[in-house]
Amino acid sequence: MLEVEAVDSGYGFLQVLHGVNLRVEEGELVAILGPNGAGKSTMLKCIAGMLRPWRGEIRFRNRSLAGLKANRVSRLGMGYVSETLNLFTGMSVYENLLLGAYAITDHEIRRQSLDFVFDLFPRLAERRPQLAGTLSGGERKMLAIGRALMGRPALLLVDEPSLGLAPLLTQSVFAALKRLSQDGLTILLVEQNVPGTLEMADRAYVLEQGAVVLEGPARRLQETAHIQEVYMGLR
Ligand SMILES: Nc1ncnc2c1ncn2[C@@H]1O[C@H](COP(=O)(O)OP(=O)(O)OP(=O)(O)O)[C@@H](O)[C@H]1O
Ligand SMILES: [Mg+2]
Repeated sequence: MLEVEAVDSGYGFLQVLHGVNLRVEEGELVAILGPNGAGKSTMLKCIAGMLRPWRGEIRFRNRSLAGLKANRVSRLGMGYVSETLNLFTGMSVYENLLLGAYAITDHEIRRQSLDFVFDLFPRLAERRPQLAGTLSGGERKMLAIGRALMGRPALLLVDEPSLGLAPLLTQSVFAALKRLSQDGLTILLVEQNVPGTLEMADRAYVLEQGAVVLEGPARRLQETAHIQEVYMGLR
């Protein structure tokens, strides 16, 4: 569904990504792991059309994304939840969700999506009229994921859903992602919670200093010395 081939990218004169290759097959839950500053968010920004690759190619559903802006990429079926969430803080939970469905004109489909999101995150249903700016950190994260789902994406990109969340809330956000994945949604997830992520992912890539240093099935990565030493504090 997604192929990233030999992508270099960065900001101004700063090169962050160095020849990154990765792919996500339909139905997979794939994780990008790595330390702070490794280039994980930069990779997602390139995929979502927020940042241009300097070299290489990104294909989504057999189509090159070269030159496409983020709103075009989103219309091709890509949902993107950025680190900053980009919620409309002065609007209600309900209004933010509806904005996620801006490209969907069928009223019935919009209503079904709304029911689906409220079922996935009952907390959002309780807080439907509340302004997004007054939600807790965890609720905001749920809202950002919910808003992306309202667009009925074929591929969901999520940047660090566990960032800043207490363990219990992280668990519930991970459980929601797991449920979406089990329902057949294809997901590419950036995470620093390595043990939790490897528990639920099918495959993972480890990005260090802008390059993929390790990749494979999540089960196998759990067993590798590098992962256990550097990311799990074991051994
Ligand atoms: N808008 C920007 N302008 C200039 N440099 C940037 C910008 N965004 C990120 N960088 C730099 O690019 C590098 C990679 O950043 P990136 O956000 O991709 O890392 P990350 O792996 O997502 O890290 P974290 O886990 O801390 O979120 C860092 O050195 C960062 O300072
Ligand atoms: Mg990041």
